[in-house]
Amino acid sequence: MIDEEVKKLINQETNRQRDGLELIPSENYVSRSVLEAMGSVFTNKYSEGYPGKRYYGGQEFTDQVENLAIERAKKLFRADHANVQPHSGAPANEAVYSAWLEPGDNVLAMDLSHGGHLTHGSPVTRSAHLYNFIRYKMKDVTTGEIDYEEMMQLALTHKPKLILVGFSSYPREIDYLKVAQIGKQVNALLVADIAHIAGLIAAGVLKNPLDFGFHVLTSTTHKTLRGPRGGLILSKGEVGNSLKASQKDIVNIPNLIDRAVFPGMQGGPHMHIIAAKAVAFFEAMQPEFVEYAKQIINNAATLAQELTDRKFKLITGGTSNHLILSDVYSSFNLSGDIVESTLDKIGLTLNKNVIPDDALPPFRPSGIRLGTPAVTTRGLKEKDMGLIAEWMKSAIDNHDNDSYLTSLKEEVKQFSTKFKLPSDLG
Ligand SMILES: Cc1ncc(COP(=O)(O)O)c(C=O)c1O
Repeated sequence: MIDEEVKKLINQETNRQRDGLELIPSENYVSRSVLEAMGSVFTNKYSEGYPGKRYYGGQEFTDQVENLAIERAKKLFRADHANVQPHSGAPANEAVYSAWLEPGDNVLAMDLSHGGHLTHGSPVTRSAHLYNFIRYKMKDVTTGEIDYEEMMQLALTHKPKLILVGFSSYPREIDYLKVAQIGKQVNALLVADIAHIAGLIAAGVLKNPLDFGFHVLTSTTHKTLRGPRGGLILSKGEVGNSLKASQKDIVNIPNLIDRAVFPGMQGGPHMHIIAAKAVAFFEAMQPEFVEYAKQIINNAATLAQELTDRKFKLITGGTSNHLILSDVYSSFNLSGDIVESTLDKIGLTLNKNVIPDDALPPFRPSGIRLGTPAVTTRGLKEKDMGLIAEWMKSAIDNHDNDSYLTSLKEEVKQFSTKFKLPSDLG
């Protein structure tokens, strides 16, 4: 039996993805192999526990597929340990907090308007009620340099148990070595949430925090890493050490994390997603993926320049990764939500975003955030970035002219449909 209603919606979503250009920096298009693994019979299986230590029988192949995912993840990120079970990025972060912290402990993390993610202690999250988040910021929003001196002072004053770096809207690279030196002074667990840049780190085009003394990486698998929607935790530490599994010692972090994920937070792992993670890690090990990651960065740098040429004011003056944050309010006197909905009308999808210390509220912020992972998967190159910037500028200039926007939408569609979706390619 076919569910015609859902089938129709899937077809409509496929067309939406094909007809427009996806510029949300946290989105991507997975390969057909990743899609097939997600749609596989592994979804039928309950596998509570870890390979070799499950609650139910029938685990011959689930154990193998989870071990494959674990080994590939460790290799890709030079980690001693990988937990591939977190259902997504938010539970991965929650698991690390609960593995290491006690209620009331201090955590030093990036200010949310300067780039940090909601799960880094936004007041609307459960973590913010349990732990005390202290904020560091950029010293200079025109260059993006983080105020490491302030970070050091905050660390010495508040003695955080955990220092967190990572972002969802910061276009520059973090000085992991400096953060690690600060962390050492106060004996903090050093955690990098690499959700946005995991693919760029895996490909070696951005630095890996584990190489600079960080203890833990949390991530999603569906952004630049181009895998299924899911989470991942990687760590340094001794896996077969002689400490009690619950002992809060930095070398024991792999055990603490495993216990925090299951049974601490989650029930049965999503084995079809873990199979798809294994496929994505395999794909990320191929030379083509390194080329892909380089192209993401080149496309983002070109797009940043093309936007600057058209009077878009960019926070930090440009980008060193895959994402761009623009203050459209000061550039064009339009708030981010208006720009987002205007561009939606022409088939360019991006999102409104707060800018550092935004004077406007989160649902009507000053900024927009965009990036190149998805359009790069689609096959767009540097030469195509000027076209995107030009469409953006023309749409903004004509944001109240619906017939003009309709004609632009047709132009975008004519262009976009020349580039196939990876799931079309087989
Ligand atoms: C840096 C960062 N961490 C965590 C998350 C949360 O991931 P998820 O939405 O998969 O729970 C995101 C998602 O946008 C993110 O950007």
